[in-house]
Amino acid sequence: MGSNDNLKSSLMAMVESATTLSAIEEVRVHALGKKGALTDAMKGLSALSPDERKSAGQELNKIKDALTAAIEAKKQTLSMAEMSARLMEEKVDVTLPTRPEQQGRIHPISQTIDEVIAIFGEMGFSVAEGPEIEDDWYNFTALNIPEDHPARQEHDTFYLPGVGEKGRKVLRTHTSTVQVHTMLNEKPPIRIIAPGRTYRCDYDATHSPMFHQVEGLVIDKAVNMTHLRGVLTDFCRAYFGVDDLPLQFRPSYFPFTEPSAEVDIGCTRAGGEFKIGHGDDWLEILGCGMVNEKVLENCNIDPNEYQGFAFGIGIERIAMLKYGIPDLRTFYESDLRWLRHYGFSALDVPSMTGGLSR
Ligand code: DAH
Repeated sequence: MGSNDNLKSSLMAMVESATTLSAIEEVRVHALGKKGALTDAMKGLSALSPDERKSAGQELNKIKDALTAAIEAKKQTLSMAEMSARLMEEKVDVTLPTRPEQQGRIHPISQTIDEVIAIFGEMGFSVAEGPEIEDDWYNFTALNIPEDHPARQEHDTFYLPGVGEKGRKVLRTHTSTVQVHTMLNEKPPIRIIAPGRTYRCDYDATHSPMFHQVEGLVIDKAVNMTHLRGVLTDFCRAYFGVDDLPLQFRPSYFPFTEPSAEVDIGCTRAGGEFKIGHGDDWLEILGCGMVNEKVLENCNIDPNEYQGFAFGIGIERIAMLKYGIPDLRTFYESDLRWLRHYGFSALDVPSMTGGLSR
C-alpha cells in the first residue's frame, strides 16, 4: 500500500461529507488548489530519490484522478438535488387570478383629434401642422384681419416679447395660420386638416387660455360652396354618429372667408335633457366659408384660377358635446379620476362612422 493512503482517505471523506455545491468547491480548493493538500504532496516529490519519486508520483497522480472524478460526480449529484429542491419549492400556481394593473387611458382631446383625423382621412384630407408661436402676419394680416380688429387687442391675444421677420410674436389664436403656411409652401390642389393647440386670454366653464382647434382647407380649380356643405355634413354625421343629422348653414362673417357661414346641428333640449339629432333646436358648432380672394392673393395663389373653402372647429366643444363633458376646464386639471371616467381605452379604434368602433 502507498504511503499516501491517509491523505487519500481523508480527502475522499471530505468529498463524501460535502452537502452543498459551495462545500464541494471548498473541498476542491483544499485538495487540488494551488496550496491544496495534494498539490503540497506533489511538491514534496522533489526531495525523493528518482526511484521513490517515480512510484510516489504515480501514486499521487492516481489519487488526483480519483479525487477529481469523485468531486465531479459529487457536484453533479448536488446540483441535481438543488434543482429538484427548487422545483419543489418554487411552484407556479396557474390558477391564481392576475394582479390588478393600472391601465392608461387616452385623453378625450387625443381621442377626438384621432376621430376627426380618421373621418377626414377617409375623405382624402391629409394632416398639416404649423408653429404655435407665430409672427403677427401669419396669425392676422395674411388672413385679412384688419389692424383694428378686436382679436388683435392685447386682452385677447398673448403677445410674446420680440419681433419676428413678419411682425410681433404671438401665440397663435387659431389654427387658420396653418392655411397660410400650407398655401405658401404647397401648390394646389390642397386638401388638409390642421389639428392643434391655440391660445387666447379667456377662462371660464367653456373657455381655457389653451385649447384646440382643427382647421380645414381645400383649394382647387372648381371648388364651390356645395362641396363645403357636403364635406361638413358628412363630417358632422359621421362624428356624432347620427346618419340623418340635420345641419343649418347660417350666414356669418369672418375676415378670411367670403361668403362665410356658421354651422348649427339639430338638437333637442326637451325635458331639460340635451340630445343631438332631430329636434326643434339648433346648436352652433363651427365656422366656415369660401376662402377670401385677398387671402389667396396674400398666399400667392391666383383667385382667377383657384377657389377654395375653409372651416374651423373647436375640438373641446365637439368632445364636450359628444361625450357629455360639462366643464371645459376639467380637460386640463389632470385629475386621474376624471380621466378614468372620460378617457378611452387604447384598444378602441377611431373609425369613420360613429367615431368609435367598440
Ligand atoms: N378661425 C376661426 C376661429 O378661430 C374659425 C374659423 C372660421 C376658421 C371660419 C375658418 C373659417 O377656416 O372659414 O374662430
